[in-house]
Amino acid sequence: MLKRTHTCGELRADHVGQTVTLCGWVNTYRDQGKGLIFIDLRDRAGLTQVVFDLEDVADDVVTQGRALRREDVIAVRGTVRQRASEPNRKLPTGEIELVGAELEVLNKTESPPILPDEHEAAKIDEEKRLRYRYIDLRRKRMQHILHTRHRVTKLTRDYFDQHDFLEIETPLLIKSTPEGARDFIVPSRLYPGQWYALPQSPQLFKQILMIAGCDRYLQICRCLRDEDPRADRQAEFSQIDLEMSFVDRDDVMEMMGGFIHHLWKELLGTDIGEIPVMSWKTAMEKYGIDRPDLRFGLEVHDISELAAKTDFKVFHDALAKPNGVVKAIRIPGGAEKLTRKMTDGYSEWIKTFKAGGAPTVKFTDKGFETGIARFVEPIAEELKAALGLEPGDLAIFTADTWSIATKAIGELRNRLARDLDLIPEGEWKFVWVIDFPMFEWDEETQRYYSLHHPFTAPNPDQFELLDSDPSKCLSAGYDLVVNGSEIGGGSIRIHRPEVQKKVFTILGISDEEATEKFGFLLDALKYGAPPHGGIAFGLDRLVMHLVGTDNIRDVIAFPKTQAGADLMIQAPGPVDDAQLEELHVRNVLPEAAATPGT
Ligand code: AMO
Repeated sequence: MLKRTHTCGELRADHVGQTVTLCGWVNTYRDQGKGLIFIDLRDRAGLTQVVFDLEDVADDVVTQGRALRREDVIAVRGTVRQRASEPNRKLPTGEIELVGAELEVLNKTESPPILPDEHEAAKIDEEKRLRYRYIDLRRKRMQHILHTRHRVTKLTRDYFDQHDFLEIETPLLIKSTPEGARDFIVPSRLYPGQWYALPQSPQLFKQILMIAGCDRYLQICRCLRDEDPRADRQAEFSQIDLEMSFVDRDDVMEMMGGFIHHLWKELLGTDIGEIPVMSWKTAMEKYGIDRPDLRFGLEVHDISELAAKTDFKVFHDALAKPNGVVKAIRIPGGAEKLTRKMTDGYSEWIKTFKAGGAPTVKFTDKGFETGIARFVEPIAEELKAALGLEPGDLAIFTADTWSIATKAIGELRNRLARDLDLIPEGEWKFVWVIDFPMFEWDEETQRYYSLHHPFTAPNPDQFELLDSDPSKCLSAGYDLVVNGSEIGGGSIRIHRPEVQKKVFTILGISDEEATEKFGFLLDALKYGAPPHGGIAFGLDRLVMHLVGTDNIRDVIAFPKTQAGADLMIQAPGPVDDAQLEELHVRNVLPEAAATPGT
């Protein structure tokens, strides 16, 4: 077998005259019929043009060369020469070509179902690309993404190693950790009727590592949450998981801000500067969302007081609800830019977020027109001032309880920015969101839920509120947001058992349940737990931003579809009854669902 001497991305003018061997895939093949065969040979490192002059090579090379097709795997030995034609400035190897003397076909491909071609990829159905992932991953773009992901994990390990973090692995077969999603569970063979849960995150283990005196911990780990995949969410994803002892919120944010700064500098050459900090309250009021996209304006205004002065029934009905509000966004130039069809569309779409609709009004030289003009007439001047309206603008409203109106207008703000093309390319708007409420009240179940997780501490000045009014208590949690996407979240943790118990009680977790589920943590907290805090970054999301894709499946070598299936290996799939029996599990379904991809 011919032995590779160089990669397909390596040869330059300096190599002219050398005899080399390249191995790779036939990217393109051209037989120009003048006794010359041109091949672009591809491997992970790049492309090199190979020429066979059929007059000069042995007969078997001619035969094999003529039979070559795209994606055949070959080895070519020959001499490097300056390109006979014009250099190809687009290719790093574009100055040279390899004149093939020997050819070895390492593997002949059957006609490939897809080709690893950038132009073609956009046209090929994603499901087909996922099924033949090994071909799709040969694409230059996919190799670039895998390389970037590798660099992110390398830079991560180096940065945190320099700051004395230890990389420590934690188990996969555990008991449930409450991160708010459904667990994947695994039956135990040795303990009939008992189950392991796969970790939604290593949260409790990293806290216990702090109690174990490890001081600073890092793990690049897999997390498993049985939730429906989305554009930026997979059931199986990776975190850069971190924890530190003897720190407060600012210490963690400084260390982690430094890390992100380092990543962006090393990978994109961008100085992201100081990361601004915003309270959760401000984020919700101004942007209607806890992960605000600060690349564009369209800020939200609460106009409840003004709305109360109108005769508009929709506003009044909303204001009569507990915590009822009216919110508005000014859309500069919106009177022209938004058609009636678009605003009607928004009014329908916003119902997805439980809002009744999205009334609008245009403001022109002649005053308020169309939509709810008649109703805003009595507050014309005040509304103009409150929203800063100028002729040609449009105002759009939501009216409901605070949580519904806020969420609806926050979603609408993002949609408007996309539809009106207001999002600038290549900008990085980072923001730390802090001062989250500890708890969120759920009307349906009539109980509190943690906004982060139940191990998050209150801010140092908020402890008393745990007793007097938990709904007002702010937590020491923090999220890092870039361009409207949450790339990391963490908190200072509770390190005293009595506080942890109190929080469990507020969350409606009984003493027995707490002991059953988290007895080990409550015990560990009793035996010398240092103050500690940490964060987890979504590795997949970081890579998505760094390579510029909004599809999480692009940054994972073997992702699952939106329906949670691996189309290449066809998982999930059936198992034998015997295997189930061994696990003390019985299938109660008359018929299993179809295996994906079949
Ligand atoms: P959290 O649940 O906020 O916190 O997760 C941390 C970060 O992980 C990413 N992320 C996801 N990425 C892809 N697919 C998913 N399904 C998914 N879920 C989360 C997000 C998120 O910011 N134990 C805590 C961290 C801590 O408190 O230290 C935790 O897991 O980028």
